Amino acid sequence: MSTILTITANTLLDHVVDLGLTLGAVNRVARIEPTAGGKGLNVGRVLARHGHRVIAVGFAGGPSGDQLADLESAEDMEPALVPTAARTRIGFMAVDGQQGGTTTILEGGFAVTAAEIGALVQRVRGLLAPVDLVIIGGSVPDASCRGLYRTLLDVCHHAGKPCWVDSYGPAMEEALDGIHPPGLAKPNRQEYGEKAAHLRWQICPELHLTDGGKEIRVRHPKGRWRVTPPTVKEVNPIGSGDCYLAALAHARLSGMAMTDQLRYAAAAGAANAARADVARIAPHEIAALAERVLVETSEEDDVKPARRRGSEGK
Ligand SMILES: Nc1ncnc2c1ncn2[C@@H]1O[C@H](COP(=O)(O)OP(=O)(O)OP(=O)(O)O)[C@@H](O)[C@H]1O
Ligand SMILES: [Mg+2]
Repeated sequence: MSTILTITANTLLDHVVDLGLTLGAVNRVARIEPTAGGKGLNVGRVLARHGHRVIAVGFAGGPSGDQLADLESAEDMEPALVPTAARTRIGFMAVDGQQGGTTTILEGGFAVTAAEIGALVQRVRGLLAPVDLVIIGGSVPDASCRGLYRTLLDVCHHAGKPCWVDSYGPAMEEALDGIHPPGLAKPNRQEYGEKAAHLRWQICPELHLTDGGKEIRVRHPKGRWRVTPPTVKEVNPIGSGDCYLAALAHARLSGMAMTDQLRYAAAAGAANAARADVARIAPHEIAALAERVLVETSEEDDVKPARRRGSEGK
């Protein structure tokens, strides 16, 4: 068992329903399931389901923040939430389990003060001693968080702790522009693509470029790989990248060989895509799909489209 500290600045009290929505009508459901949301919390949930100790740092305020803390505890994570005057944002997600397709309604963020940001950094600093890996997931709740990810990367560096970052837009741009870049980044094709081409992704020693059900490109100091996920019937792919990252962390911290790490990560993303709920996959579901993941070495020196195929990695 390892100890992972997840950081979710833009926490979310989500509400998930299994329903094909009819717009302009009353949509009645038997149950609306409150869920702890935000990308770092998705990662944490999957790691907790693998038996790891997960310390879940984030901002949380108001009744929605209190509920978020209860949900984290109920899912075997240790909440380390920094109180905010503003309430935690709220969202709704309707997943059509029959036809597929997901509709989300989300508040974008919530106000965070300079003092609250300082408190979060201090909280992380104080919690790092027993931590094996830090994972920062998702966006920031407020423009006042400018510089937060860069500061957190510096804090992790000085404490000698590896820090992975899965974000996008200005927050990711800052993380990539700092003195201590993330040890690993996992953009999807859109986050990595045209509009974000100016981002310094190459500064990360390790990069995983995912693309839904399509081929994954991986660049690591020890090699490059192309990974083909297993084919599944997609129900709800939201959170598949978070599941990929969590499963990769589990596989690495458990000492698996690199190709097995990649198999396990790609299978976890696929297992999530095949379900209606988000990041509620079980280790046995991942293991069953991992056998169907194809891992090949690549000669390409970055994650741009490859021209040549290699043989399977060791
Ligand atoms: N339809 C699918 N079929 C098979 N595997 C999938 C599918 N969708 C996602 N995956 C798996 O999950 C991984 C991550 O998916 P994706 O690229 O959609 O992540 P993402 O956009 O970062 O997701 P999110 O940010 O919502 O967590 C893929 O590399 C793949 O292994
Ligand atoms: Mg993602």
